[in-house]
Amino acid sequence: MNDTTAHKRTIRSFVRRAGRMTHSQQRAFETLWPTYGVEYLAEQVDFASLFGRSAPVVLEIGFGNGETLVEQAVANPDKDFLGIEVHEPGIGHCMLKADESGVTNLRLVNHDAIEVLNHMVPRKSLARLNLYFPDPWPKKRHHKRRIVAPPFLELVADRLAAGGTLNIATDWANYAEHIDEVLSGSDRFSCSLRREHGGDEPLDRPQTKFERRGLRKGHRIVDWCFTLRSAPHDL
Ligand SMILES: C[S@@+](CC[C@H](N)C(=O)[O-])C[C@H]1O[C@@H](n2cnc3c(N)ncnc32)[C@H](O)[C@@H]1O
Repeated sequence: MNDTTAHKRTIRSFVRRAGRMTHSQQRAFETLWPTYGVEYLAEQVDFASLFGRSAPVVLEIGFGNGETLVEQAVANPDKDFLGIEVHEPGIGHCMLKADESGVTNLRLVNHDAIEVLNHMVPRKSLARLNLYFPDPWPKKRHHKRRIVAPPFLELVADRLAAGGTLNIATDWANYAEHIDEVLSGSDRFSCSLRREHGGDEPLDRPQTKFERRGLRKGHRIVDWCFTLRSAPHDL
């Protein structure tokens, strides 16, 4: 980490939701965490030794119950997937699905993604960062909790490899406006794709649980792909 990329905050993008783990999710922490879990430590991870090979790394922030993260890992055996989530029942669920599918290219961290990005993820190490249906924090007084903000973009830009992408989806119209505004003000990313849809279009990601919930409420979905621009000192 260096001073320009340090993302100092006290306001977090989540509150830990109450929610009991089922017996099988608890068992998953006992039996499957050693396979899939990565303990949070304030030191850099070496992805090649973590995954036992060198392959493009896709990071997903806030994978929820992880079903779509596992689907992506199954569908892309040539890539390695690192999922970050703070909701423990979701992590337990994800490990059970991972075990059922037998994926070997998936690891999970149970911690605040901002701290993981700041301390564990090396610079220029990610091929792609997925942020699917981040908490929308719809009330104005909570907008400061939204993860998509200029310091987050600086941090992500620093961790993406050349040509890497930031892929975002939301079903909240007001958050979509905010994302358009914040990203158009960033000189680190250019928008390569913006699609507004009703959940009925082929995408390069599976549909998620929160997306289905939004669609049931009649929300429209916006999907973006933002590509990292080369920084002046990289040219
Ligand atoms: C609205 S849910 C979406 C879950 C999933 N992506 C989906 O579409 O079904 C947002 C998730 O992001 C997680 N989250 C929010 N901020 C986070 C952070 N800073 N680090 C890790 N997880 C975070 C929350 O715990 C929650 O499970």
